[in-house]
Amino acid sequence: MAETDGGFAPGCPMATSAGRSTPRNPRLSGRPRGPVAGVPVYRPDIYSAAAIRDPYPHYAALRDLGSVVWLAKQRIYALPRYAEVRAALADDAAYRSAHGVPLNAIARRIGRTSTLLSDGAEHDQRRNLLAHRLTPRALRPLQPRIDELAERTVRGAVGRGVVDGVDDIALAMPLSIVPDLVGWPQRGRDRLVHWAGAIFDNLGPWNLQTVRSGPAALSMLAFVHSLARRRDVLPDSMAAEVVRRIERGELTTADCRGLFIDYLAPSIDTTAGAIAAALWLFARHPDQWELLKQRPELVPGAVNEVIRLESPLRAFGRRLAAPTPVGDVLLPAGAQVLMMYASANRDERFWADPERFDITRDATGQLGFGYGVHGCAGQGLARLETSAVLRSLLAHVERIEVAGEPEPALNNVIHRFGRLPVRLVPARAAA
Ligand code: HEM
Repeated sequence: MAETDGGFAPGCPMATSAGRSTPRNPRLSGRPRGPVAGVPVYRPDIYSAAAIRDPYPHYAALRDLGSVVWLAKQRIYALPRYAEVRAALADDAAYRSAHGVPLNAIARRIGRTSTLLSDGAEHDQRRNLLAHRLTPRALRPLQPRIDELAERTVRGAVGRGVVDGVDDIALAMPLSIVPDLVGWPQRGRDRLVHWAGAIFDNLGPWNLQTVRSGPAALSMLAFVHSLARRRDVLPDSMAAEVVRRIERGELTTADCRGLFIDYLAPSIDTTAGAIAAALWLFARHPDQWELLKQRPELVPGAVNEVIRLESPLRAFGRRLAAPTPVGDVLLPAGAQVLMMYASANRDERFWADPERFDITRDATGQLGFGYGVHGCAGQGLARLETSAVLRSLLAHVERIEVAGEPEPALNNVIHRFGRLPVRLVPARAAA
């Protein structure tokens, strides 16, 4: 169990009570020295390699400490419990994404033209630009292609002995679907997984992970810059729509750059994380696999339960626009606050028996796709891909077995396996 100082932090020079605090400009304020009075302090680094490998004891310790906790290492506030995360995500006027989502200043600066890091009307405008192409209705024509790809992927892996659940199954889906949809040309595709993971890593705090993945994140940005400048995008894609609007003078090249980062970077690791987690969970819980075989109508609920229990996106930050109460304390304007989706999704105050993988539970309230105005724009696609893999597995696989030691992919923001040796034992009819 992670160690904490177990007590309450001393008061700090910043605002401590309603009406007395002064709104601070987040860009000028620098890093606060300590928390406001009454906020418990957590000293272990939840972004250390060990904590990334096994974050759950840290999350449990944070939830036990309080509804808001000061992370001493990052010098930010964290919301580890369900109720506060959901309430904060619903209050986008107080919890702002600009200057707030990434935990380091360089990413906050580089990402400032993205949908993820914008607020209010600017955010609406950026999101409306393309999110309509990801609604369930707009995605319907893609369904046969996704199903066919899942069939091919699963049939290719079944009965083949030990395969890698990540490279051979989970990554195959987003890598085949999203680049075409977004309009990424054939070149550079072999580097997409590495690049997109690096972009996520760089949204974390300034640590070794961030430094190591910096060059890859910059390479992706440079590549995207050249695509946007040359308008080198696939026809009939999301990017082609943007290019048409650039030519009509409605958008700029920067919008085209933003599109690739907005829609490609978050679509690969996250979806692969969900699919690999599903393989892992069903392998470890054969009773749940049996149940799914008997009741395939539970597939959509099972996807929610996988995302709840093994949330691919651990946490993102926000910046307070004004002094904001959380529980009994008033957090100062300008403070950065971490939305701990993965911890909220295991909060024992909200979920009954939260550590249990139970595909019959109603997990529709899980926060793994976020919530509110910044709720995941690509969740419909992620659900389609994950469900298609599960349905193909149901058709061809008797049981899933873990066939070796899995390895986590170390990343500041993404929680997923880097390698997951599995054996897909063929269903009798398919053997
Ligand atoms: C299992 C897969 C996925 C998970 C767990 C996931 C998770 C999330 C979360 C938690 C957010 C909220 C960020 C915030 O609160 O600031 C988000 C936003 C977003 N996601 Fe996803 N995501 C997934 C797949 C995808 C895919 C496939 C795409 C694109 C094709 C995508 C595109 C986006 C975009 C554009 C946003 C920003 C929305 C906004 O700021 O308005 N995501 N995602």
